Amino acid sequence: MDEAERFGDFRLLRRVHVGVMAEAWRADGATGPLAGRALLLKRALPTTAEDPARRARFAAEAALAGRLRGPHLLTALASGEHRGLPWYACAWIRGWTAALVRDHAASGRGLPPPLVAALGAGVASGLAALHTLADPAGRPLGLVHQDVTPGNVLLAAGGAVVLADVGAAVRADRADEPFARLATPGYEAPEQLARGALTPRTDLWQLGLLLAELVAGARGGAAVAAVQARRGPLLTLVGDLLRPDPERRPPGAAPVAAALAALTDVEGAHRLARWARANLPPPAS
Ligand SMILES: Nc1ncnc2c1ncn2[C@@H]1O[C@H](COP(=O)(O)OP(=O)(O)O)[C@@H](O)[C@H]1O
Ligand SMILES: [Mg+2]
Repeated sequence: MDEAERFGDFRLLRRVHVGVMAEAWRADGATGPLAGRALLLKRALPTTAEDPARRARFAAEAALAGRLRGPHLLTALASGEHRGLPWYACAWIRGWTAALVRDHAASGRGLPPPLVAALGAGVASGLAALHTLADPAGRPLGLVHQDVTPGNVLLAAGGAVVLADVGAAVRADRADEPFARLATPGYEAPEQLARGALTPRTDLWQLGLLLAELVAGARGGAAVAAVQARRGPLLTLVGDLLRPDPERRPPGAAPVAAALAALTDVEGAHRLARWARANLPPPAS
């Protein structure tokens, strides 16, 4: 065993992604409580660990991830610090990002609306759980995810839909603190671009863009233009989510999840996974 690949209780197998604050590794639990588990280990970059404000932001992400529950959110199973680098670990999801799904849907003519609705219903359910998360005393935290993008939505090979990456999640009433605004360029709602108030409906706009990209098999403005040219219940809902005025969007993630669930069926997510298994490269273990 190459000792250089060991990080505390974990064996780091390959680096999946390098972000602004942290890097993500496919890891195995080697010793300790997570021994034998396939994991996604997120580790602060040295530049994050050295800077108190960035370090605090990563600590907040790890703490929040530890409190997430439910089928559509990614729970941190453990967190800590090793060699000066804070980390947390989640279950590895063998599957694909919605970005990959979109890119492969682009070679056809987008993804069929019932399959998009199935994915959207999962993301909206995850958002509903995040938006209603409360502190231990039962006070709502008022969280906004702020980064609902195709790269942060995972489709497991078995059909589970998971909203990942709470690295940008912020309490709506603290949107003016350092590192509070961390949206991905190209995926900002109008109020994010204008540095206006963030609300749960900010996430609904981003969900609208995600659904537009999947149903159109295109990105950004091209996807929005494509969905505006089409008719149907899903396209109408996407148009409502993308309204520039947050007040005119649907009122919350839970009703959106219900509306999307009504546009697919109980098998929708499994059919989506079957489509992915047939059309996408095999998921990495
Ligand atoms: N639990 C997981 N299982 C498999 N892949 C994951 C998991 N979590 C994240 N990923 C992959 O790692 C990438 C980076 O993770 P993410 O939490 O989004 O970090 P970042 O803050 O750098 O964007 C994601 O885009 C996704 O491709
Ligand atoms: Mg991410």
